[in-house]
Amino acid sequence: MSEYLPGLAGVPATKSNISDIDGEKGILAYRGYPIEQLADKSTFEETCMLLLNGKLPTTQELEEFEQRLHSNRRTQFHIRDLMKTFPPSGHPMEMLQTAVASLGMFYPGNECLTGTGACEDLDYIYNMSVKIISRMGTIVAMWEHLRNGYEPPEPRDDLNYAENFLYMFTGKDPDPLMARIMDVCLILHAEHTINASTFSVLVTGSTLASPYSVIAAAIGTLSGPLHGGANQRVLEMLDEIGTPDKVEEYVDKRLAKKEVIWGMGHREYKTKDPRATILEKLVNKVMESQGKNVNPLMELAREVERVCEDRLAHKGVYPNVDFYSGILYNEMGISADQFTAIFAIARSAGWLAHWREQLADNRIFRPTQMYIGEPLRDYVPIELR
Ligand code: COA
Repeated sequence: MSEYLPGLAGVPATKSNISDIDGEKGILAYRGYPIEQLADKSTFEETCMLLLNGKLPTTQELEEFEQRLHSNRRTQFHIRDLMKTFPPSGHPMEMLQTAVASLGMFYPGNECLTGTGACEDLDYIYNMSVKIISRMGTIVAMWEHLRNGYEPPEPRDDLNYAENFLYMFTGKDPDPLMARIMDVCLILHAEHTINASTFSVLVTGSTLASPYSVIAAAIGTLSGPLHGGANQRVLEMLDEIGTPDKVEEYVDKRLAKKEVIWGMGHREYKTKDPRATILEKLVNKVMESQGKNVNPLMELAREVERVCEDRLAHKGVYPNVDFYSGILYNEMGISADQFTAIFAIARSAGWLAHWREQLADNRIFRPTQMYIGEPLRDYVPIELR
């Protein structure tokens, strides 16, 4: 029997041509395009097409895709009614998982998932993908209003994905700089090889479950603090530390108790996550636009980064994507418990690209185990125990 590797570290779970990481050099590329170039030049809509389709779209293809995304932004009133029954104190990730799972009841579509050969019906894949990607943003934005007791605004067809999300989320016309920053955040979070939530996409997708079940499973997986939930924890951690002079003591105490520092470390990267570098620059951009030279949260974060580099660099532990994303969203006025839900909106594109790839060459996931329990033995009647 082969060796058991906890967390399947280093074990290939699939063959994929969607994205790639060079963890030593700190390189991330979607379909071969470096993340820095996509963040600089692309849009979330174009990046969705690149991920789903494997190539950059022509102007006409992009316009058609944007049109399909726009026309799927509205959700049935029943979904809104369902969301009104959720407790306002519920976490946005629990809300999102429940609401996305419910989409399968309102917009069913399993016609391609027959179990007879590969599902390569591009129209079906696109149809389901736009239904989910479009509505993820709507659902997260609607919840921001519903949980505060207000009716959410209707989506607007004259806005791109990021603009419309900010419009629906805040109820105000989006500032162009903030909308572009949100667009870049969505690009940066859209895909990241076979991480835990994407692996759950492969596993659930391999059973030919509906794409709504696939994405609901992935949302649940992303919610954990060792994965996407870390961005919320980073902000809570900075809050708890308070001031830069307390950082060393805080970090050392946690390390002594073998506790992790949130937003640090990655299975793949042994250097600073390239997305963290881009996000850090975006925080500076937001500060500049607000005429701020100093941001106490940023000062604190930089000190955490410095102390962690001193204590953990020899283990290859550096800031990951979640370290600066929470600070950025905080600067944009977004509440901490929504950070991971925004991450999920973006990641739905990568998840669906992997779902498509899995369906094209599917075999149900059914790993094996190393049984370490009792050998076969006879049942003992209760009176003899
Ligand atoms: N704080 C302190 N130590 C950390 C650390 C962190 N955030 N991340 C990793 N380490 C340590 C590990 O404890 C291990 O130490 P050891 O060799 O003495 O046992 C060493 O660094 C190597 O860890 P590694 O095997 O690379 O971690 P992993 O692949 O099992 O776990 C994470 C990866 C992401 C789960 C882990 O880094 C972590 O928990 N980070 C904090 C949560 C987080 O920010 N998650 C978001 C990821 S994008």
